[in-house]
Amino acid sequence: MKIPIIYFSASGNTKYIAKLIEMGFIFANLEPELIPINTLKKKKIDFEEIEVFGVGAPIYALAFAPNMLQWVKNLPKARKKLKFFLFDTNAGLPGAPIKQVRNLLEKKNYKFIGAIEIIAPTRDSVFESRAFKYVNWSRNKIEKVFQFGIKLAKIIKTGEGQIDWSNPTLFSKLFRVIFQNIEKPFYKYFGRFFGFLPERCSNCRTCEKGCPTEAITFNNRPIFNYQKCILCFRCARNCPTNAIYFKLFPNVRYFKGPKTVRGYIAPDQILKEYQRRLFTK
Ligand SMILES: Cc1cc2nc3c(=O)[nH]c(=O)nc-3n(C[C@H](O)[C@H](O)[C@H](O)COP(=O)(O)O)c2cc1C
Repeated sequence: MKIPIIYFSASGNTKYIAKLIEMGFIFANLEPELIPINTLKKKKIDFEEIEVFGVGAPIYALAFAPNMLQWVKNLPKARKKLKFFLFDTNAGLPGAPIKQVRNLLEKKNYKFIGAIEIIAPTRDSVFESRAFKYVNWSRNKIEKVFQFGIKLAKIIKTGEGQIDWSNPTLFSKLFRVIFQNIEKPFYKYFGRFFGFLPERCSNCRTCEKGCPTEAITFNNRPIFNYQKCILCFRCARNCPTNAIYFKLFPNVRYFKGPKTVRGYIAPDQILKEYQRRLFTK
Protein backbone atom coordinates (compact mmCIF):
# COMPACT_ATOMS: atom_id res chain seq x y z
CA MET A 1 0.00 0.00 0.00
CA LYS A 2 1.46 3.33 -1.03
CA ILE A 3 2.04 6.11 1.51
CA PRO A 4 1.05 9.50 0.08
CA ILE A 5 3.32 12.40 1.01
CA ILE A 6 1.35 15.51 0.09
CA TYR A 7 3.36 18.69 -0.10
CA PHE A 8 3.48 22.22 -1.37
CA SER A 9 6.77 23.81 -2.34
CA ALA A 10 7.21 27.09 -4.17
CA SER A 11 10.99 27.33 -4.35
CA GLY A 12 11.97 23.70 -3.88
CA ASN A 13 13.03 23.39 -0.22
CA THR A 14 10.00 21.49 1.00
CA LYS A 15 10.07 19.31 -2.10
CA TYR A 16 13.67 18.40 -1.24
CA ILE A 17 12.67 17.46 2.32
CA ALA A 18 9.73 15.43 0.98
CA LYS A 19 12.13 13.56 -1.31
CA LEU A 20 14.56 12.84 1.52
CA ILE A 21 11.73 11.40 3.61
CA GLU A 22 10.69 9.40 0.55
CA MET A 23 14.21 7.96 0.31
CA GLY A 24 14.18 7.07 4.03
CA PHE A 25 10.95 5.13 3.42
CA ILE A 26 12.38 3.36 0.40
CA PHE A 27 15.47 2.43 2.43
CA ALA A 28 13.12 0.86 4.97
CA ASN A 29 11.23 -1.00 2.23
CA LEU A 30 8.07 1.09 2.30
CA GLU A 31 6.37 2.44 -0.79
CA PRO A 32 5.91 6.22 -0.63
CA GLU A 33 4.25 8.41 -3.25
CA LEU A 34 5.06 12.10 -3.50
CA ILE A 35 2.00 14.18 -4.33
CA PRO A 36 2.37 17.92 -5.03
CA ILE A 37 -0.76 19.70 -3.80
CA ASN A 38 -1.55 21.18 -7.22
CA THR A 39 -1.96 17.69 -8.70
CA LEU A 40 -4.72 16.84 -6.24
CA LYS A 41 -7.40 18.30 -8.47
CA LYS A 42 -6.81 15.48 -10.95
CA LYS A 43 -5.55 12.82 -8.59
CA LYS A 44 -7.78 11.89 -5.66
CA ILE A 45 -6.39 10.15 -2.59
CA ASP A 46 -8.53 7.25 -1.49
CA PHE A 47 -8.42 7.56 2.29
CA GLU A 48 -10.17 4.21 2.65
CA GLU A 49 -7.21 2.56 1.00
CA ILE A 50 -4.35 4.06 3.01
CA GLU A 51 -3.13 3.76 6.60
CA VAL A 52 -0.82 6.72 6.82
CA PHE A 53 -0.13 9.97 5.01
CA GLY A 54 2.31 12.89 5.30
CA VAL A 55 1.74 16.61 4.86
CA GLY A 56 4.48 19.18 4.28
CA ALA A 57 4.64 22.88 3.51
CA PRO A 58 6.85 25.94 3.71
CA ILE A 59 6.09 28.36 6.49
CA TYR A 60 4.46 31.55 5.29
CA ALA A 61 3.62 34.14 7.93
CA LEU A 62 4.24 31.71 10.78
CA ALA A 63 1.92 28.99 9.52
CA PHE A 64 1.79 26.25 6.87
CA ALA A 65 1.43 28.02 3.50
CA PRO A 66 -2.28 28.93 3.24
CA ASN A 67 -3.12 26.60 0.35
CA MET A 68 -1.85 23.62 2.36
CA LEU A 69 -3.46 24.83 5.56
CA GLN A 70 -6.77 25.11 3.72
CA TRP A 71 -6.38 21.59 2.35
CA VAL A 72 -5.88 20.31 5.90
CA LYS A 73 -8.91 22.26 7.13
CA ASN A 74 -11.05 20.80 4.34
CA LEU A 75 -10.16 17.19 5.13
CA PRO A 76 -13.16 15.21 6.35
CA LYS A 77 -13.14 13.43 9.70
CA ALA A 78 -11.18 10.19 9.71
CA ARG A 79 -13.50 7.23 9.26
CA LYS A 80 -10.89 4.72 10.40
CA LYS A 81 -7.54 4.69 12.17
CA LEU A 82 -5.42 6.83 9.93
CA LYS A 83 -1.98 8.08 10.91
CA PHE A 84 -0.23 11.21 9.75
CA PHE A 85 3.15 12.91 9.94
CA LEU A 86 4.10 16.51 9.26
CA PHE A 87 7.09 18.44 7.97
CA ASP A 88 7.87 22.03 7.15
CA THR A 89 10.73 24.21 5.99
CA ASN A 90 11.22 27.77 7.13
CA ALA A 91 13.75 30.55 7.38
CA GLY A 92 14.16 30.38 11.14
CA LEU A 93 10.89 31.80 12.44
CA PRO A 94 8.34 29.03 12.07
CA GLY A 95 5.85 30.14 14.71
CA ALA A 96 4.00 27.07 15.95
CA PRO A 97 2.74 25.52 12.69
CA ILE A 98 3.22 21.86 13.55
CA LYS A 99 1.19 22.25 16.70
CA GLN A 100 -1.55 24.04 14.78
CA VAL A 101 -1.82 21.44 12.00
CA ARG A 102 -1.45 18.57 14.46
CA ASN A 103 -4.33 19.96 16.53
CA LEU A 104 -6.48 20.41 13.42
CA LEU A 105 -5.95 16.81 12.33
CA GLU A 106 -6.22 15.28 15.78
CA LYS A 107 -9.59 16.98 16.21
CA LYS A 108 -10.65 15.04 13.11
CA ASN A 109 -9.46 11.80 14.73
CA TYR A 110 -6.28 11.31 12.73
CA LYS A 111 -3.35 9.94 14.73
CA PHE A 112 -0.09 11.86 14.88
CA ILE A 113 3.12 9.84 14.55
CA GLY A 114 5.83 12.46 14.12
CA ALA A 115 7.04 15.71 12.65
CA ILE A 116 10.18 17.45 11.51
CA GLU A 117 10.90 21.12 10.99
CA ILE A 118 13.88 22.28 8.96
CA ILE A 119 15.43 25.71 8.69
CA ALA A 120 16.24 25.72 5.00
CA PRO A 121 18.57 27.85 2.92
CA THR A 122 16.65 30.87 1.74
CA ARG A 123 15.79 30.78 -1.92
CA ASP A 124 12.56 32.52 -1.33
CA SER A 125 13.30 35.84 0.26
CA VAL A 126 11.18 38.55 -1.25
CA PHE A 127 13.64 41.42 -1.27
CA GLU A 128 17.24 41.50 -2.41
CA SER A 129 19.74 41.13 0.43
CA ARG A 130 23.48 40.60 0.59
CA ALA A 131 22.91 37.85 3.14
CA PHE A 132 21.45 35.54 0.51
CA LYS A 133 24.15 35.65 -2.16
CA TYR A 134 24.79 31.97 -1.54
CA VAL A 135 23.09 29.39 0.64
CA ASN A 136 24.23 26.23 2.38
CA TRP A 137 22.70 22.86 3.01
CA SER A 138 24.48 20.97 5.78
CA ARG A 139 25.07 17.25 5.52
CA ASN A 140 23.87 16.78 9.11
CA LYS A 141 20.56 18.34 8.29
CA ILE A 142 20.11 16.26 5.15
CA GLU A 143 20.87 13.01 7.00
CA LYS A 144 18.59 14.04 9.86
CA VAL A 145 15.65 14.21 7.45
CA PHE A 146 16.57 10.92 5.76
CA GLN A 147 16.79 9.25 9.19
CA PHE A 148 13.47 10.82 10.17
CA GLY A 149 12.03 8.85 7.23
CA ILE A 150 13.63 5.63 8.51
CA LYS A 151 12.34 6.23 12.06
CA LEU A 152 8.85 6.92 10.77
CA ALA A 153 8.98 3.76 8.68
CA LYS A 154 9.72 1.74 11.82
CA ILE A 155 6.75 3.31 13.62
CA ILE A 156 4.51 2.61 10.61
CA LYS A 157 5.64 -1.01 10.38
CA THR A 158 5.40 -1.84 14.08
CA GLY A 159 2.33 0.31 14.68
CA GLU A 160 4.00 1.61 17.85
CA GLY A 161 5.73 4.78 18.92
CA GLN A 162 5.76 8.41 18.00
CA ILE A 163 8.51 10.88 17.21
CA ASP A 164 8.32 13.39 20.03
CA TRP A 165 7.30 16.82 19.06
CA SER A 166 8.40 19.40 21.59
CA ASN A 167 6.07 22.30 22.13
CA PRO A 168 7.00 25.59 20.54
CA THR A 169 8.54 28.38 22.56
CA LEU A 170 6.36 30.98 24.19
CA PHE A 171 7.65 33.54 21.70
CA SER A 172 6.52 31.46 18.71
CA LYS A 173 3.16 30.76 20.32
CA LEU A 174 2.58 34.43 20.90
CA PHE A 175 3.26 35.26 17.26
CA ARG A 176 0.97 32.48 16.12
CA VAL A 177 -1.90 33.65 18.29
CA ILE A 178 -1.58 37.16 16.89
CA PHE A 179 -1.30 35.99 13.30
CA GLN A 180 -3.94 33.30 13.15
CA ASN A 181 -6.77 35.77 13.27
CA ILE A 182 -5.38 38.19 10.77
CA GLU A 183 -3.73 35.98 8.17
CA LYS A 184 -6.71 35.47 5.88
CA PRO A 185 -7.69 39.13 5.67
CA PHE A 186 -3.97 39.94 5.46
CA TYR A 187 -3.44 37.88 2.28
CA LYS A 188 -6.63 39.12 0.67
CA TYR A 189 -5.97 42.73 1.51
CA PHE A 190 -2.32 42.93 0.48
CA GLY A 191 -2.83 40.91 -2.70
CA ARG A 192 -4.55 43.96 -4.11
CA PHE A 193 -1.34 45.93 -3.96
CA PHE A 194 0.17 44.19 -6.96
CA GLY A 195 0.38 46.66 -9.81
CA PHE A 196 0.88 46.04 -13.52
CA LEU A 197 2.56 48.13 -16.21
CA PRO A 198 1.13 46.95 -19.57
CA GLU A 199 3.72 48.86 -21.63
CA ARG A 200 6.49 46.71 -20.11
CA CYS A 201 4.74 43.35 -20.49
CA SER A 202 6.17 41.02 -23.13
CA ASN A 203 3.29 38.51 -22.88
CA CYS A 204 5.71 35.79 -21.81
CA ARG A 205 3.25 34.54 -19.14
CA THR A 206 6.08 33.79 -16.69
CA CYS A 207 3.85 35.17 -13.93
CA GLU A 208 1.02 32.78 -14.75
CA LYS A 209 3.29 29.75 -15.22
CA GLY A 210 5.31 30.38 -12.06
CA CYS A 211 2.45 31.11 -9.67
CA PRO A 212 2.53 28.25 -7.13
CA THR A 213 -1.16 28.54 -6.28
CA GLU A 214 -2.54 29.24 -9.76
CA ALA A 215 -3.75 32.63 -8.57
CA ILE A 216 -2.93 34.27 -11.93
CA THR A 217 -4.64 33.80 -15.25
CA PHE A 218 -3.27 35.65 -18.22
CA ASN A 219 -5.48 37.40 -20.72
CA ASN A 220 -3.34 40.11 -22.31
CA ARG A 221 -2.48 40.97 -18.72
CA PRO A 222 -2.19 39.05 -15.45
CA ILE A 223 -5.49 38.77 -13.63
CA PHE A 224 -5.04 38.10 -9.92
CA ASN A 225 -7.33 35.93 -7.87
CA TYR A 226 -6.97 37.45 -4.41
CA GLN A 227 -8.66 34.46 -2.80
CA LYS A 228 -5.76 32.29 -3.93
CA CYS A 229 -2.81 34.69 -3.69
CA ILE A 230 -0.41 33.82 -0.86
CA LEU A 231 1.81 36.88 -1.28
CA CYS A 232 4.90 34.90 -2.24
CA PHE A 233 5.88 37.66 -4.70
CA ARG A 234 7.11 35.15 -7.27
CA CYS A 235 5.19 36.96 -10.03
CA ALA A 236 6.91 40.25 -9.30
CA ARG A 237 10.29 38.66 -8.70
CA ASN A 238 10.29 36.46 -11.78
CA CYS A 239 8.91 39.00 -14.25
CA PRO A 240 11.78 39.52 -16.74
CA THR A 241 10.62 43.02 -17.65
CA ASN A 242 9.52 44.19 -14.18
CA ALA A 243 5.98 44.69 -15.42
CA ILE A 244 4.54 43.52 -12.09
CA TYR A 245 5.38 45.54 -9.03
CA PHE A 246 4.17 45.99 -5.48
CA LYS A 247 2.52 49.34 -5.05
CA LEU A 248 3.71 49.77 -1.46
CA PHE A 249 7.37 49.42 -2.53
CA PRO A 250 7.39 50.46 -6.19
CA ASN A 251 11.17 50.79 -6.57
CA VAL A 252 12.36 47.88 -4.48
CA ARG A 253 14.79 45.29 -5.88
CA TYR A 254 13.48 41.76 -5.67
CA PHE A 255 15.50 38.69 -4.76
CA LYS A 256 16.14 36.61 -7.86
CA GLY A 257 17.43 33.55 -6.00
CA PRO A 258 20.87 32.70 -4.58
CA LYS A 259 23.72 32.58 -7.05
CA THR A 260 25.18 29.47 -5.44
CA VAL A 261 23.66 26.63 -3.46
CA ARG A 262 26.35 24.78 -1.51
CA GLY A 263 26.18 21.38 0.13
CA TYR A 264 23.20 20.05 -1.86
CA ILE A 265 23.17 16.25 -2.04
CA ALA A 266 20.74 14.50 -4.36
CA PRO A 267 18.22 12.47 -2.31
CA ASP A 268 18.86 9.25 -4.26
CA GLN A 269 22.60 9.63 -3.61
CA ILE A 270 21.97 9.55 0.16
CA LEU A 271 19.82 6.46 -0.33
CA LYS A 272 22.58 4.75 -2.34
CA GLU A 273 25.18 5.62 0.32
CA TYR A 274 23.08 4.07 3.07
CA GLN A 275 22.30 1.00 0.96
CA ARG A 276 26.03 0.56 0.24
CA ARG A 277 26.85 0.84 3.95
CA LEU A 278 24.24 -1.80 4.74
CA PHE A 279 25.70 -4.06 2.09
CA THR A 280 29.32 -3.73 3.31
CA LYS A 281 28.41 -4.27 6.99
C1 LIG B 1 5.51 34.92 1.51
C2 LIG B 1 6.54 34.22 2.37
C3 LIG B 1 6.39 34.23 3.76
C4 LIG B 1 7.32 33.59 4.57
N1 LIG B 1 7.14 33.61 5.92
C5 LIG B 1 8.04 32.99 6.73
C6 LIG B 1 7.86 33.00 8.16
O1 LIG B 1 6.91 33.53 8.71
N2 LIG B 1 8.80 32.37 8.92
C7 LIG B 1 9.88 31.74 8.36
O2 LIG B 1 10.70 31.21 9.09
N3 LIG B 1 10.05 31.69 7.02
C8 LIG B 1 9.17 32.30 6.18
N4 LIG B 1 9.33 32.26 4.81
C9 LIG B 1 10.46 31.50 4.23
C10 LIG B 1 10.03 30.12 3.75
O3 LIG B 1 9.30 29.43 4.73
C11 LIG B 1 11.24 29.26 3.41
O4 LIG B 1 12.06 29.92 2.47
C12 LIG B 1 10.83 27.89 2.89
O5 LIG B 1 11.93 27.00 2.98
C13 LIG B 1 10.35 27.93 1.44
O6 LIG B 1 9.97 26.62 1.07
P1 LIG B 1 9.82 26.13 -0.45
O7 LIG B 1 11.20 26.26 -1.07
O8 LIG B 1 9.40 24.71 -0.33
O9 LIG B 1 8.82 26.99 -1.10
C14 LIG B 1 8.42 32.91 3.99
C15 LIG B 1 8.56 32.89 2.60
C16 LIG B 1 7.64 33.54 1.79
C17 LIG B 1 7.81 33.51 0.29
